[in-house]
Amino acid sequence: MKVVVTGAAGFIGQRLVRSVLAKGELTLADGSTAEVTSLLATDIVAPPEPIFGDQRLTFVAGDFGTNEMLDLLITPDTQVVFHLAAIVSGGAEEDFDLGMRVNLYSTMALLERLRALPHVPRLVFASSVAVFGGTLPDVIEDGTACTPQTSYGGQKLITEHLLTDYSRRGFLDGRALRLPTIVVRPGKPNKAASSFASAIIRDPLQGQMVTCPVSEDAGVWVLSPRKVVENFLRAEELPAAVWGTSRSVSLPGLTITVKSMIDTLREVAGDAVAERIRWQPDAEIERIVYGWPVKFAPNRALEMGFAADRSFREIVEAFINDDLNGTFVE
Ligand SMILES: NC(=O)c1ccc[n+]([C@@H]2O[C@H](COP(=O)([O-])OP(=O)(O)OC[C@H]3O[C@@H](n4cnc5c(N)ncnc54)[C@H](O)[C@@H]3O)[C@@H](O)[C@H]2O)c1
Repeated sequence: MKVVVTGAAGFIGQRLVRSVLAKGELTLADGSTAEVTSLLATDIVAPPEPIFGDQRLTFVAGDFGTNEMLDLLITPDTQVVFHLAAIVSGGAEEDFDLGMRVNLYSTMALLERLRALPHVPRLVFASSVAVFGGTLPDVIEDGTACTPQTSYGGQKLITEHLLTDYSRRGFLDGRALRLPTIVVRPGKPNKAASSFASAIIRDPLQGQMVTCPVSEDAGVWVLSPRKVVENFLRAEELPAAVWGTSRSVSLPGLTITVKSMIDTLREVAGDAVAERIRWQPDAEIERIVYGWPVKFAPNRALEMGFAADRSFREIVEAFINDDLNGTFVE
């Protein structure tokens, strides 16, 4: 089967590509499993390093929303698409037109190409807890209304609704995962308003000073890269009947304050590392971040077999092992 991953040079996309290749088979819309014989990974930028040496894999650089790229990506043998390419929260807030074009219009063009296939393809979409906003209850439940307060959240929510309707009509078999903030992101920060949540762990562990733009009591709903990738694979394999009339689910995660994140960093890596954090409030980031929910009761996701990390300590240790070769600058 041919699998397509968009946003494949990104933080999660790179890991997902590796995991799909390692798993070696995925589930088709009819419930049968098939071997992954070809994985077309795409992104508007090239991956930072040659990520894979696997002959099943082809990487194509380009804007996924153009007709030329869609001709390449969505062909009669395309069975499964993981759609991760996006203009992330801060970027879509900064540039409304770009966010609309990539997150909405190009995604709609992708859905139309999938609809035109002679079979029903499976589509797994990276949505976000940014679909929630405004006046919210203390704990977000599965039935909590979505009233996003960012353009990014609005674009993700519209896509979720389209996915549910395209699935109801049998045009495709869609699944949308509302991702918590994924930490710890290695390398350079992206334009996500939540990127500080990775930076305050990543940069001090590499001997660098970092500025935190929100206060210590700010809460975040987090999940590790390892777990999010496991959850993407879980989303792909679940039978359509399990999704029923709603093709979206809020993934499980951990609720943690910035203070507890730093306390954990101190426990794992010592005082000198934790002292590399400075504070400089940024009103725009605070506005976006304080508008996001931090406590969830993700019962539907847990029943569907999605899982969170056991502790934030486990997330920090996994980052040191997976991304820093097991060491850090004391
Ligand atoms: N990381 C998180 O905390 C988080 C949280 C919620 C939702 N998400 C969603 O998960 C997905 C992946 O996030 P990530 O953290 O890996 O982000 P990322 O920024 O690292 O990756 C997104 C990728 O999309 C690519 N892209 C942007 N526009 C494109 C276009 N027109 N054509 C092709 N590629 C394009 C970018 O180059 C980038 O590599 C995104 O859809 C994001 O909205 C992420």
